Amino acid sequence: MKRIVILGCTGSIGEQTLDVVRRHPDKLQVVGLACGRRVEAMLAAAAEFGVAVCATNSEEAAAGARAAGAVPGGVSLEVGDAAVEALVRMPEADLVVNALVGAAGLRASYETLRAGKLLALANKESLVVGGDLLCSAVLSNGGNADTAASARTQSAAFFESSPTEVGFASESGGISGTSETLVDFGGPAISCLHPASLIRPIDSEHGAIFQCLLGERAEEVEALWVTASGGPFRGRTRAELERVTPEEALAHPTWNMGPKITIDSSTLMNKGLEVIEAHHLFNMPYDKIRVVVQPQSAIHSMVEFSDGSVKAHLGTTDMRIPIQFALSYPDRWDAPVAPLDFTQLGSLEFAAPDTDTFRCLALARAAGETGGTLPAAMNAANEVAVAAFLDKRLSYLGIADCVEAVMDAHHGEQVTSIEQLLEVDSWARAQAEQYIKA
Ligand SMILES: NC(=O)c1ccc[n+]([C@@H]2O[C@H](COP(=O)([O-])OP(=O)(O)OC[C@H]3O[C@@H](n4cnc5c(N)ncnc54)[C@H](OP(=O)(O)O)[C@@H]3O)[C@@H](O)[C@H]2O)c1
Repeated sequence: MKRIVILGCTGSIGEQTLDVVRRHPDKLQVVGLACGRRVEAMLAAAAEFGVAVCATNSEEAAAGARAAGAVPGGVSLEVGDAAVEALVRMPEADLVVNALVGAAGLRASYETLRAGKLLALANKESLVVGGDLLCSAVLSNGGNADTAASARTQSAAFFESSPTEVGFASESGGISGTSETLVDFGGPAISCLHPASLIRPIDSEHGAIFQCLLGERAEEVEALWVTASGGPFRGRTRAELERVTPEEALAHPTWNMGPKITIDSSTLMNKGLEVIEAHHLFNMPYDKIRVVVQPQSAIHSMVEFSDGSVKAHLGTTDMRIPIQFALSYPDRWDAPVAPLDFTQLGSLEFAAPDTDTFRCLALARAAGETGGTLPAAMNAANEVAVAAFLDKRLSYLGIADCVEAVMDAHHGEQVTSIEQLLEVDSWARAQAEQYIKA
């Protein structure tokens, strides 16, 4: 039985995670839930799944739920950002699903790894903003040694039939010496395939790459191919995008997701964030991370090897598949949805992304390549710009312009601490607001 905490349980990923739990009550138990404003929905889930501890960052929503008598007996409702973060340290939790949205998820990811717990990560912004820091949290993790050790043992057992045994060079020495490594990317950064890693990717592209890399050697990986649907505006010109409304941008052709990621998908910022996420998760240089548009979203990503072979991961476009694998790994459980019917699939198309029209992809890649605090500034500017677009205070094309203006104004530094990243985040939010008001 895996005991899990779900942060962001009322969102798209959170609700689908609860559905996976509903299908596997003999394997998963929810011990903590957190949300933002939709407290009553969280409390209903607490009653359904027998969860005793819930947290919200919204005092107002908590007060409303209390006034409505919606807090079931035996459920403790905690309030505040610190209460949400405290859930990840619950001694009875083995694994944390981080399905918060935006940079708000960074500290929870960091604290989860520091506590030595498994992190099933949907919140890609955590890695975009603090990939370097999360890496060092993995390396220096000294918290819950039992969970960390059991994760290592499970992964090592899974990789036992590995054809090679290569060392994992760790400058800090933190996880060197665990020699069962299968995919050795030759550095101390996070590779979620390392037996010592506590990270399980939920993002469908990274879950796909993770699976394509199982059993492979790092030195034989030529490129990661991250697939993109192209979003609802694929093929449009800049002139055609000038008057796009939030309603049009929220209509994603293949995935049903929360509003922020849906807008990011339409601008291709989501793909840019995923390039940075892949860099950290797989410790892969940027020149080996490529993006290709695959409009049917049937191929969730691919890995190309030095002999010209390419492995692709295909499946039904339903996030419960990658969520479930992040929870079941190294096992596979019964499918949560009907499998892909290849006789009905028709054709598979591929195209290069149009980065002149959809500039956010190029901006995010540039931020990632520069590194340091620039990705944190870029991400915060994007969050503010997307919110302003949804509020109809900024045009669709203005999103990329705003992100670029904040990136240009930012004086990057090396990442040193969470506090520094949060300061950069606040600075970039203020700059973006100024840009939008001007
Ligand atoms: N949706 C997908 O298919 C998908 C796929 C891949 C990756 N992801 C990534 O997964 C993450 C979540 O995406 P989503 O689409 O599920 O977003 P979403 O539907 O907007 O849900 C976000 C969740 O986080 C909660 N929340 C937001 N800020 C919070 C805070 N400060 N404290 C506590 N709870 C907070 C929300 O609570 P309330 O709703 O109660 O306010 C909600 O439960 C994002 O990083 C996204 O990029 C999503």
